Amino acid sequence: MKKSVIIPALLIGAFAACAPEKPNTESEVKPEKSAVEAVIDPTKGIGQVKNVTLESPLDQARVKRGIAIYEMKCQSCHKLDETRLVGPGWKEITKKRKPEWIMNMITNVDMMLDQDPEAQKLLELCLMRMPNQNMSIGDARDVLEYMRSNDGEK
Ligand code: HEC
Repeated sequence: MKKSVIIPALLIGAFAACAPEKPNTESEVKPEKSAVEAVIDPTKGIGQVKNVTLESPLDQARVKRGIAIYEMKCQSCHKLDETRLVGPGWKEITKKRKPEWIMNMITNVDMMLDQDPEAQKLLELCLMRMPNQNMSIGDARDVLEYMRSNDGEK
């Protein structure tokens, strides 16, 4: 019995939503808002890196270059397990953070520390600013691939 009441009500609702002469209602504003939010995604951090496509299996050439960069420029402050040295350990980082965020942190660290709330939390915890390592986007992508490998991806 209830159904017969609800269905006509839904139909009327659908027609009302399509009614042409109803300008500037909230329903017209909403899609615009969400489009803006999709472009400026705060979980991707701040910087040049907007979209990273991850592929499986891992690119082993990148992993290799990532290891070399890690040993030369990052190891003095970052361990591969979850324990903190000067900066946080890298274990599980690729599960906690978006690839874009990680790469922006690596290539745009000063702006990240000044403006990104998640980076600022780390700064409060570590009490030291990570130095700018002059890393290119390609270098950062290599390190990211190594981090994925360190997190058990194949
Ligand atoms: C002199 C010490 C130091 C060196 C060298 C260093 N970092 Fe950092 N890193 C830090 C600190 C400290 C933080 C935490 C944020 C802060 O306090 O600036 C951090 C944070 C990070 C984070 C975010 C970690 C998380 O848990 O989200 C990433 C990613 C990162 N560093 C990558 C790198 C890479 C890649 C290199 C090498 C190219 C590197 N770091 C070299 C000190 C360092």
